[in-house]
Amino acid sequence: MIPESFIQDVLARVDIVDLIDKYVPLKKAGANYMACCPFHNEKTPSFTVSPGKQFYHCFGCGAHGTAIGFLMEYQGMGFVDAVRELAASVGIQVPEDRGHQGGSTEQGSRLRRLSERMGEAQAFYKAALKKSERAARYLKSRGLSDEVAERFGMGYAPEGWQSLQAVFVDYGSSEMLATGLVIDSENGRRHDRFRDRIIFPIINARGEVIGFGGRILDQGEPKYLNSPETPLFEKGRELFGLPQARQALRDENCAIVVEGYMDVVALAQHGVGNAVATLGTATTPTHVQKLLRQVDRVVFCFDGDAAGRKAAAKAMDNTLEALADNKTVAFAFLPEPEDPDSFIRKAGKEAFTRLIAQATPLSDFLLRALSARCDLTTSEGKARLIAEAKPLLLRVSVPLLRLQLVKRLAEASDFSQIEVERLCGIRGYVPPAPLKAARHAPSLARALLRLVLQKPALAARIPLAQLPASLERQILETIARAVTDLSFAPSYAQLREQLRGDLQERALDALAGEWMDMKLEDADVENEFQAALSRLEAAVQDEEFKRLQTQVREFGMSGLSEEEKERFRHLAHRNSKKTSA
Ligand code: UTP
Ligand code: MN
Repeated sequence: MIPESFIQDVLARVDIVDLIDKYVPLKKAGANYMACCPFHNEKTPSFTVSPGKQFYHCFGCGAHGTAIGFLMEYQGMGFVDAVRELAASVGIQVPEDRGHQGGSTEQGSRLRRLSERMGEAQAFYKAALKKSERAARYLKSRGLSDEVAERFGMGYAPEGWQSLQAVFVDYGSSEMLATGLVIDSENGRRHDRFRDRIIFPIINARGEVIGFGGRILDQGEPKYLNSPETPLFEKGRELFGLPQARQALRDENCAIVVEGYMDVVALAQHGVGNAVATLGTATTPTHVQKLLRQVDRVVFCFDGDAAGRKAAAKAMDNTLEALADNKTVAFAFLPEPEDPDSFIRKAGKEAFTRLIAQATPLSDFLLRALSARCDLTTSEGKARLIAEAKPLLLRVSVPLLRLQLVKRLAEASDFSQIEVERLCGIRGYVPPAPLKAARHAPSLARALLRLVLQKPALAARIPLAQLPASLERQILETIARAVTDLSFAPSYAQLREQLRGDLQERALDALAGEWMDMKLEDADVENEFQAALSRLEAAVQDEEFKRLQTQVREFGMSGLSEEEKERFRHLAHRNSKKTSA
């Protein structure tokens, strides 16, 4: 559980305009920013982002939310991941993370020391490459130039067992062990992990070396050795070649995911700079999310063997959740037994880029993979197709792609689209109903809530008990509590996150459209608020008068207590004044 206060803190520091603009370029329009909505297809912009109110709202499809909600919808992230990502973007750490890693600042300096050591080791390996003719010859035999080796910061780990002792005076320390650069053998002797290997440094977005991969020069086992996971290095999050690919990713708006270090480097050597590799692990949703944040298209290009196809299936599986509607994911298959490195060397850049351009879209690949398992000439097989598709389909959260898949499944199975949806337990994409408020006059609670959103302190001045029960009243109560008990006035974005998953959240959403366009000066807010309070008082008195009137009709004046009589006369007098006025 992430503490509420932390979420509020993150929202207070993040700027939603900055955030969204990274994914959906925004244009200023008055006080707000606009773009074509990334959540539905449209030609004229109705997607609005409010810097003052820190939320987005689409007047077309009703998509709506805070910075956290945007990441969740757009990136398909979970709530916790979205908070974590936003926290990281403003340089603060989620308390829960701090908890299991130990104290925060202490932890920070430990990480810094670790990454310094990794940097020192890399410098050593690079220098060793310059000195080793054998290593240089090996790189040449693989067709790599000095420039490309330099660009990837490649190096060479010499043959000795303890070469790194020359770099680190505390070679025997526990911190050294934590870097993963050394290994304690069973007889208690410590030695270098990487010996007589070509070194590929793994570098994070900040340019820090966080791990290494090492390839043996000749034959031998294992062919590749990788850094273990350390506090710096989490394989499921990192991609080899990502920082080097940055510019090419921007230019191409496409990322190519390959399996091997050598593939990335060889592609770069041949002028394909937008390739990255997973690190001897399967592609994770985090990997895909990371890439889709930078580009609109991801193409997996795995080896043309059985292992490569298996890796592709796994990648597809882990991609479903990370998908967004305006992004494409595709799969390129190399002829067996090639890998990207050997293919581009033999066939050249043109042939390789053609292969990438003609890659199989994810929906085709998914359908093909499913169909291969079912005999579609029989009705049993067709039913089986839908049954097998169901768990996959349920994980696709983006409406357009899901609809596309449903259509394809319907074609392949002879079921109707609606039947497929029903069998898979999903409802098709129903655009949210147009805002109700446009049709009937806003209730008093709603009018008050709109004003309170503008100026939360007002909540404390509303006689809430007098409002009829409604979701709006509940929200007002939440705000009033925050303002009076915690003397904390939640912003709209903060409030909405506090109500996440609650019925009140829906009520708040329904209001957002009206509220987005509200442009009131402070003085006007106060005037409107006074007017609304008067209306509330009047409504309450009307109620009271009606109740007393009924009593008088049934039991006569003697049915009332002295106090009630007094009150009845007073209200009757007020009413007569009102009607004569
Ligand atoms: P491959 O066996 O396909 O090697 O492993 P490769 O990339 O084609 O390498 P070359 O061309 O023979 O030099 C693909 C990736 O799997 C991981 C590495 O990350 C490697 O880049 N791997 C492979 C290991 O971690 N350990 C191994 O022993 C083998
Ligand atoms: Mn290879």
